Amino acid sequence: MPAESQWFHSAVVYQVYPRSFQDSDGDGIGDLRGVISRLDYLATLGVDVVWLSPIYTSPQDDNGYDISDYQDIDPTFGTLEDFDELVAQAHARGIRIVMDLVVNHTSDEHPWFVESRSSKDSPKRDWYWWQPPREGMEAGAPGAEPTNWHSFFSGPTWELDETSGEYYLHLFSRKQPDLNWENPQVRQAVYAMMRWWLDRGVDGFRMDVINMISKVLPLRDGPVIGAGPWGDGSPSFICGPRIHEFLQEMHREVFEGRAGKLLTVGEMPAVTVEQAVLFTDPARHEVDMVFQFEHVGLDHGEHKWDRRPLDLLDLKASLGRWQAGLAEVGWNSLYWNNHDQPRAVSRFGDDGQYRVESAKLLATVLHLHRGTPYVYQGEELGMTNVPFADASSFKDIESVNYYAAATGQGLLVEEVLDALRLGSRDNARSPVQWDGSPHAGFTTGTPWFPVHPNHSEVNAERAVADPDSVFHHYRRLIELRHTEPVVADGDFTMLLADSPAIYAFTRSLDGVTLLVVANFTGEEQKVTGLPEAQRWADAELLLGNYPDADATPLALRPWEATVHRLG
Ligand code: NOJ
Repeated sequence: MPAESQWFHSAVVYQVYPRSFQDSDGDGIGDLRGVISRLDYLATLGVDVVWLSPIYTSPQDDNGYDISDYQDIDPTFGTLEDFDELVAQAHARGIRIVMDLVVNHTSDEHPWFVESRSSKDSPKRDWYWWQPPREGMEAGAPGAEPTNWHSFFSGPTWELDETSGEYYLHLFSRKQPDLNWENPQVRQAVYAMMRWWLDRGVDGFRMDVINMISKVLPLRDGPVIGAGPWGDGSPSFICGPRIHEFLQEMHREVFEGRAGKLLTVGEMPAVTVEQAVLFTDPARHEVDMVFQFEHVGLDHGEHKWDRRPLDLLDLKASLGRWQAGLAEVGWNSLYWNNHDQPRAVSRFGDDGQYRVESAKLLATVLHLHRGTPYVYQGEELGMTNVPFADASSFKDIESVNYYAAATGQGLLVEEVLDALRLGSRDNARSPVQWDGSPHAGFTTGTPWFPVHPNHSEVNAERAVADPDSVFHHYRRLIELRHTEPVVADGDFTMLLADSPAIYAFTRSLDGVTLLVVANFTGEEQKVTGLPEAQRWADAELLLGNYPDADATPLALRPWEATVHRLG
C-alpha cells in the first residue's frame, strides 16, 4: 500500500533561470523584478511552486552556482527588498518560492574561503579540502595533484595555492572550492543560513549536487578514464558514507517543527533507485524527492559529449524501473529539462515539422507519471535548441572549458562543435521568448545571450492566444494533476514495454483508470497488444495533442499522445 498522499503529489514546479527569464532594467540580464512582472503568466499556467536558480551574490563564474554571500542578492538580479516583494507577490497568487541551495561548494571569493586560504593556521583552514602535493612530488609539477580526479568542468579537481604550497579541491570550476562537511562548524553555518531564508518566507530548497557533500576518507585516486591522465573520482564522493547522517541532521536542524508546506529536492547525479528510496522515505526525514539522471544519460555514449540517439526501449525500461522502485516508499521527481540539459523537444522529439505535437507528447508522458513534474522555463512554449554558429557562441563555463580541452587534445574543431551543439547547457539558457519583437520581449537592452531566431514564431504571446498551443497543453496537464486524484496518487503500470515506438501505461486509483498512449515516431502507428483494447477504444478521451476529439488509443498519428479514462 503506497504511503499516504502529500501536498506535493499534486503540485507542479516551474524552474526559473533568472538570468534568462525576464529583464526589467534594460541591462540585458534577467532579474527579480522581471520575475515579478511575469507572475501572472505563471499563475495562468497554474504552477504551484517556482524554483529559482541562484540569485545570491556571486562572481558569476558558473552563472551563480558559485556563491560569495549566501545571505544577499546579486546586484545583477536586484535587492533583498525585491526578493521579499517577489515572495509576497508569489504567495498572494498561491505560488511557493523554492531557493537553490548550493552548499557542496562556495565561490573562492566567499569570505569563508578567503579566510581559509589566508594561512595554514587559519581557523577556517579546515572548512575546505586542503592537501599537500602527492607524496614525493613538487607542488605544481604535472601529476602532483593529491588525487587524479577529473573536474566536471575539464582539467584536474585540484588547484594549487602558490602561497601555502597546498592544493584545494574543486569538483567543479577552480572558482568553486568544495566545503568540508566533516567539519561541524561548516554544517552549522549552512543550517543557520537555511533557517534565515525560511524565516524570511521561502518555501524550501532545491539542493545542488547534494549527494556529493560526504567524501570517502582518505581521498584516493579513482579509476583512470580512457587513455588518462585523469581518473573518475565519483566513487569517493557520490553518496559518501555520511550522506544520510548529514541530510538527517539538516532536517532536524532546519526543517523539524516548521509549519507550512515546505519542499526539499536533492539533485543527485548517479543516484540509484535503491538509494533514492532511502533518501525519500518520509519516515527517514531526509528529502522529499531527488533529481536522478539515468533517463537524461541514455543518449550518452562514453561520456556526455559522445551523443547517440535515444532508444525508446531504454527510456521505458529506465523510467519504468524508477516508477516501480518508488511505488511503495518514497517519491519521484519528473523532468525532461532544466538549465543543464538541452531542450527536450530537440533532443527527444522533433523540433521541425512536429515541434508542437512532439512537445505536447513529451509533456503528456511526463506529467502523467507518478511523481512531481518540473517545467523548465520555455519548455511550456516548446522552445528548441540554439543554432550555434561557432565556438564564440558558447558562454557556459562547462562548454568553453570542454572546447579548449578537447581541441587542445587534437580533436577536430567541427567534431567538438557538433558535440557542443547537441549537448551544451547553453541550449537551455537562451532568453525566454515572450513575443515576436526584436529581443523577444526579454529585454529593452542587448541580451547577454542572443534570443533564438525562431522567436517570431515560438513565443508566449502567440501561445497564450492560441488554445491549441503547447502552453495550453501544459496548462491542462497541470490542471489535471490538481483535479484528478488518480494523476497525483494512482498506481503506475507500464504496458507494451517491448514496443520500440509506443510509450503506454496506466494509472489507477479507487476504480478510476487512465490510459496514456504515445507515439514516439513521425509515422502513423497501429497499437497492438493493448490489454482490454476494445474497452479503451470506447473510453472517454480526457486529453489529446491533436486538435480534434476522435483520437483513439489503437491507431496514433505522428507524435500523437492520448489520455483516456475509464471509471
Ligand atoms: C549542478 C547545477 O545544476 C549546475 O548548473 C552547476 O554547474 C553545478 N551543479 C555546480 O554547482
